[in-house]
Amino acid sequence: MQGHSTYEPKGGFAKWLEDRLPIVGLVHSSAVAYPVPRNLNYFWTFGGILTFMLVAQILTGVVLVMHYTPSASMAFESVEKIMRDVNYGWLLRYLHANGASMFFIAVFIHIFRGMYYGSYKAPREVLWILGVIIYLLMMATAFMGYVLPWGQMSFWGATVITNLFSALPVVGPSIVTWLWGGFSVDDATLKHFFSLHYLLPFMIAGVVGLHIWALHHVGQNNPTGVEVKDIRKDTVPFTPYATMKDAFALVCFLAFFSYFAFFIPNYLGHADNYIKANPLVTPAHIVPEWYFLPFYAILRAIPSKLGGVIAMFGAIAVLFFLPWLDSSKVRSGKYRPLFKQFFWVFVGVCILLGWLGSKPPEGWYVTVSRIATFYYFAHFLIILPLLGRIEKTKPLPASIAESVLGPARDRLPGDPGLAPPAAAAPETRG
Ligand code: HEM
Repeated sequence: MQGHSTYEPKGGFAKWLEDRLPIVGLVHSSAVAYPVPRNLNYFWTFGGILTFMLVAQILTGVVLVMHYTPSASMAFESVEKIMRDVNYGWLLRYLHANGASMFFIAVFIHIFRGMYYGSYKAPREVLWILGVIIYLLMMATAFMGYVLPWGQMSFWGATVITNLFSALPVVGPSIVTWLWGGFSVDDATLKHFFSLHYLLPFMIAGVVGLHIWALHHVGQNNPTGVEVKDIRKDTVPFTPYATMKDAFALVCFLAFFSYFAFFIPNYLGHADNYIKANPLVTPAHIVPEWYFLPFYAILRAIPSKLGGVIAMFGAIAVLFFLPWLDSSKVRSGKYRPLFKQFFWVFVGVCILLGWLGSKPPEGWYVTVSRIATFYYFAHFLIILPLLGRIEKTKPLPASIAESVLGPARDRLPGDPGLAPPAAAAPETRG
């Protein structure tokens, strides 16, 4: 579904460049002429929001690094210096720290959108898998970023999580020593994490490039899950339609982001991270950042350490197989009455797991965590494979245009959405 580029270079230099490097034509075909389904809702604006957030994180991060010192003896003080002495340093830091949370809010909406509308189903499996790889890279990046201020939570979070690898048989202890760069979380660990925290966002950017390439190759899914049949009736050109909608959604998202960055900048963080790392004092409760809490709950739900580690990684690994676990022929949840209910139960269970991850692992919290963990896996391994076989789905619209405008027979000639007269057809269509 590549947008046929109708770009014609005007002027000598533009023609000269297009003959040698058709980059303007590429931008035109993928961001101007690219045909997008006409029925996309606001959930389809989060890919653009994520792209913006990735760039924002890289830019604020690069400037922060100019004032940050990656050493166990200086890191904490250098962050305080950024907050107090560097011009607008507080702003940069708050944007970067809250930006990470905003990035995860956006990616969760993006992932659940894909799950609801079946965007992972053929032919979008590779697009989905690239997404899961991005998600893994995002988690690694955020985890290592949180260690850099070298506060109490940074230190103890790093200690707990890196120690998990010691549960792996045979190679475990060597992996932990290798991650630490020594025999405890210390200066070498901080330097490892700093280096990788700087590198990984660029790897994410590379995988996002593949993600968008795959998207443009197979075309976007849409709320009906019905493929584009007639490009003239079912799609609109990316610019101005999607560009404007994405821009509006981005402004609303930035208003939400600003509220956090300017009014409650420490709301999502932990107070203990304003205490310098101390290997001799363990905080009362070691909790990771909110976006890791569901996985943290799964980790602690399993009585054995190795079992917990396997379950935690399994909770993400299962996402790779989602395209083949969901057996339904119908793509969108809109036409799947049973799936719709199970989907919302699943969302509820993920939120419940997040809440449980913030609680101490004792008493009934553990019991509920075990039930929720079982349900999490059952959703993928039992419910989705069965549902497609037993569910009676609703009839699908004949086309995207029909889902927007109603059945063709109810419309009069000249109604919007019917094939536009040839002369008025935008250059990009057909
Ligand atoms: C840095 C993170 C990411 C960026 C910048 C990004 C970017 C995008 C963009 C620009 C789109 C097209 C617009 C849209 O559908 O919203 C898209 C679509 C998609 N993304 Fe992502 N994405 C990211 C992470 C993920 C993750 C983590 C997953 C899944 C695990 C994922 C799965 C998908 C799928 C399935 C589509 C196709 C949606 C459809 O056409 O219905 N993405 N992504």
